[in-house]
Amino acid sequence: MRKRIIAGNWKMNKTFPDADDLLIEITEELLDMDLKGVEVIVCPPSVYLELATDAAENYPISVGAQNISDKSFGAYTGEISAPMLKSMNVDYCIIGHSERRQYFNESNEQLKQKVYQVLENDVVPIFCCGEMLDQREAGDHFKVIEKQLEESVFNLEDFDFEKLIIAYEPVWAIGTGVTATPAQAEEMHVYIRSLIEKKYNKDISEGTTILYGGSCNPFNASELFSIKDVDGGLIGGASLNAGDFLEIINQRIKKQ
Ligand code: PGA
Repeated sequence: MRKRIIAGNWKMNKTFPDADDLLIEITEELLDMDLKGVEVIVCPPSVYLELATDAAENYPISVGAQNISDKSFGAYTGEISAPMLKSMNVDYCIIGHSERRQYFNESNEQLKQKVYQVLENDVVPIFCCGEMLDQREAGDHFKVIEKQLEESVFNLEDFDFEKLIIAYEPVWAIGTGVTATPAQAEEMHVYIRSLIEKKYNKDISEGTTILYGGSCNPFNASELFSIKDVDGGLIGGASLNAGDFLEIINQRIKKQ
């Protein structure tokens, strides 16, 4: 059975004491919850990863980074490599978030290298794909997603692709308060699964965890997680508040 996951992407938020507080609030509550197999991933800014990996030793969370270099080591000032993540017991890494694509010009080819880097180091990629508003309005959303997958992850061998987690995040829904309608989310998740089946096979397609991301909050989470092909969420803004994040986790648990 594929994994059900709620992942919090803190982006570039929180000072160290605030990050510490948020982590404590989340983890203490999680200890008393029956997660029913739902995996909770926290993706803090990289300077706080150790805080999170330390917490993960005693609490039911996994830890993810938000980005990674496409190189493994060397003179790349300011970068962080996949072997570094592995050596710090980081389990996951978000790759290809739309903010990285948009503001840092990350190309599909570069993202392919990043996916390769993390897989090489036993870190699981959470690969993000998603269309811009104008692309959806032009009716190009399916083509855009197909190209992103084709050029960054469909090159993987079966055994590597099976490790991947995909997050569908329509760019127009990220941080805007506008969520994809359940019908729009379902349509794209089903489409992504059909592409995987065509490229690999039905077992792999059925086994791939596909998360939805984009203005997911405690109020719309239940409806989104009712969709059979939505396996969980990649949560931005609402993951910065322990109460909201825990409520979203709760909504996912209720569907188990
Ligand atoms: P949001 O962000 O929940 O704030 O829309 C989601 C994301 O960027 O992963």
